[in-house]
Amino acid sequence: MDPVTWRLGDLTVNRIGFGAMRLPQQGTAFDPHARPRDRAQAIEVLRTAVELGVNHVDTAAFYFSATRSANELINSALSPYPADLVITTKVGPSRTPQGEWLPLATPEQLRGQVEENLRQLGRDHLDVVNLRVSGLDDVSAHFEQLAGLRQEGLVRHLGLSNVRPHHLDQAQRIAPVVCVQNSYGLGHHPDQDDFLGVCGERGVAFVPFFALAGANKEAGTSAEDDEVTAIAAAHDATPAQVRLAWTLARGPHVLVIPGTGDPAHLRQNVEAGQLVLTPEELTRLDALHLNGN
Ligand SMILES: NC(=O)c1ccc[n+]([C@@H]2O[C@H](COP(=O)([O-])OP(=O)(O)OC[C@H]3O[C@@H](n4cnc5c(N)ncnc54)[C@H](OP(=O)(O)O)[C@@H]3O)[C@@H](O)[C@H]2O)c1
Repeated sequence: MDPVTWRLGDLTVNRIGFGAMRLPQQGTAFDPHARPRDRAQAIEVLRTAVELGVNHVDTAAFYFSATRSANELINSALSPYPADLVITTKVGPSRTPQGEWLPLATPEQLRGQVEENLRQLGRDHLDVVNLRVSGLDDVSAHFEQLAGLRQEGLVRHLGLSNVRPHHLDQAQRIAPVVCVQNSYGLGHHPDQDDFLGVCGERGVAFVPFFALAGANKEAGTSAEDDEVTAIAAAHDATPAQVRLAWTLARGPHVLVIPGTGDPAHLRQNVEAGQLVLTPEELTRLDALHLNGN
């Protein structure tokens, strides 16, 4: 069985992490009409995640709804932070207080975004900061800024998000990259398979988002595939657990960060680490994956 942990630089994380994007609101993230999530429930989910052994939490300052902020919830629920907790945040995008998206940050604006995360999380340094790229062909100027903040000690490790292989080349010429966070899952972006392999060869973690939600961005909004349902039934597991187990089986450097505001789903997601799919099941799922979008 694949190892249960991976190293992000000098930090060891369990391969099943948690994504905080769904915490500030119910329903679709960034929907201006989404109902803010019950505060006590969000706090409970975060604390339960840590109790269950999750020590890799993905967040961003731009994960907020009208009255809830993912970073504030993480701070309130988990500080003083356990020594082994790794919080990964991302910079590049930002939103106005009303929630509208702003253009990608300039390299000079990244310091302010890092500092905003420090304030909200109540920390003196950030464990991992991903540069989330959108519409940028060359990340060098942005990554150089983050490398400078790393040198200053504000950031411990750097990663990339929403990138293509040439972005990783550009960034690695400037500073070490510990992770790549891209949209990927069973039947979702099989075009990422080669890049996932490249990351593995270079010792860079590949951290898919939408491993459950896929192209729909909302799990449960479309009928589950018969093959996934059948394999889940054979293991007395849920389709979501099969999706996570398949994703983890893509390589020891693949980490998952499923997002949920539901304590029962959280437990299932952590338990997916115990689910071992047979080679024959993996072959069936691989075929399904390659027919995806
Ligand atoms: N770098 C980027 O650009 C980027 C973009 C998007 C997201 N992210 C990160 O990636 C994380 C994961 O993305 P995501 O949360 O959008 O998608 P996801 O983890 O693929 O799926 C989340 C959806 O699946 C449901 N779900 C979770 N566990 C379930 C289970 N055991 N059974 C059934 N349904 C389940 C959730 O609903 P319930 O709440 O009802 O469980 C939610 O609708 C985010 O939280 C965020 O930290 C990064």
